[in-house]
Amino acid sequence: MADSAGTVFDVVILGGGSGGYACALRAAQLGLTVVLVEKAELGGTCLHRGCIPTKALLHAAEVADSSRESDQFGVRSTFEGIDMPAVNAYKDGVVGRLYKGLQGLVKSRKITFVAGMGRLVSATAVEVDGQRYEGRHVVLATGSTPKSLPGLDIDGTLVINSDHALKLDTVPSSVVVLGGGVIGCEFASVWKSFGADVTIVEALPHLVPLEDDQASKALEKAFRKRKIGFELGARFAGVERSEKGVRVGLENGKTIEADLLLVAVGRGPVSQELGYQQVGVEMDRGFVKVDEHCRTNVATISAVGDLIPTPQLAHVGFGEGIMVAERLAGLDPAPIDYDGVPRVTYSEPEVASVGITEERAKEKYGEGSVESITYDLAGNGKSQILRTAGFVKLVRQKDGPVVGIHMVGSRVGELVAEAQLIYGWEAYPDDVASLIHAHPTQTEAVGEAHLALAGKPLHAHG
Ligand code: NAI
Repeated sequence: MADSAGTVFDVVILGGGSGGYACALRAAQLGLTVVLVEKAELGGTCLHRGCIPTKALLHAAEVADSSRESDQFGVRSTFEGIDMPAVNAYKDGVVGRLYKGLQGLVKSRKITFVAGMGRLVSATAVEVDGQRYEGRHVVLATGSTPKSLPGLDIDGTLVINSDHALKLDTVPSSVVVLGGGVIGCEFASVWKSFGADVTIVEALPHLVPLEDDQASKALEKAFRKRKIGFELGARFAGVERSEKGVRVGLENGKTIEADLLLVAVGRGPVSQELGYQQVGVEMDRGFVKVDEHCRTNVATISAVGDLIPTPQLAHVGFGEGIMVAERLAGLDPAPIDYDGVPRVTYSEPEVASVGITEERAKEKYGEGSVESITYDLAGNGKSQILRTAGFVKLVRQKDGPVVGIHMVGSRVGELVAEAQLIYGWEAYPDDVASLIHAHPTQTEAVGEAHLALAGKPLHAHG
């Protein structure tokens, strides 16, 4: 640890997750002196308890499905089961390598990394184990933690959250997943592929309820085919211990028994007892309030990532951290267009989107001023080779640009990169229709959807 007595750093960052470390790396790159304080492990939720380990599990799940279903492709193999300790070793190996790389990166940028529990003690200082770090600016990036429901006690063995789910060393034979959002659908997908019976309980009328209705319905259809159970519009009433494990009661009177209950009803900000209120930082339901440049009401304090009420996505944290670093270095970064941030649920099949849903477009532009088209992956060669079903749906402002792209199908998460350029550059269907897409790829489905919307469908009935 560097001796900081008497030193005033340019930026002191509290929290070393996606938002905090991205801010630190960019600030250091721009020549600012940076302190980065982290109480646990550099990399935060995304690297250690979120995006990365869950995607490793989802990849292992895909391998399990491939071996189980290999005869569909004329390949003889036998699926013998899941060796959970070996799956975990693979997952932890991925995390470990990235963690090492990130530590090296922070070191190479000459960032002062401080391991310990930090607390905001003034508008310009953070204290860690009695040592004070002064900065011209402070960036709060303390992230989020899994939420529960009132009266629902997470015991870590029978009633668990995503942190515990990542550490299981056996595959449960049955699970109830409370919450059909992103975390719920991803774990449901993993466990089904690993051989468990899964039932999702979702209070709203659809799975991944923030997505376009058509995408939710397609995911539900695919999950039904995979025999993943779900109860929609069903509110949780209570859970009791049973001989099997848990007995979950719903407000509609149904009960479901399973080995485990995973609670995936959202994540809440980590903002209590960190000195934020005492220093006068304005908050709303635990989130730190910010303007479009991530400034709080205190002139020297900014906040980024899951701590502020913007989409709780690692890449949003990266974007906010970079924007704040650039602003503090005297550049003039543009605010983030949150609708333009790509969203991917990495279940099988995947759900990916950017821009706004058809419903929101109709609210925004008027019922008669919105056009949409759905290109079915049945017409896409590569998707047929993969044997996946789904679609690419486009939403456009009539006679205007494409304002929403919504996709369902295996691997469609990879198509979101082109989709975000189309949205971000306010492309018209004709602009994209004139670009030749490589054949046979799934990206062609994006091209074909635009051909269809431009009035010249190729592999589609028009
Ligand atoms: P979420 O907000 O996406 O989903 C929670 C779901 O629980 C909602 O659909 C909600 O209606 C439901 N729910 C709430 N109370 C309920 C009740 N009493 N009974 C039944 N259902 C109830 O939150 P989730 O899935 O926990 O994820 C947390 C955050 O992490 C999200 O913002 C998500 O975007 C992010 N994340 C992103 C990933 C990705 O980008 N692939 C992966 C995992 C998490």
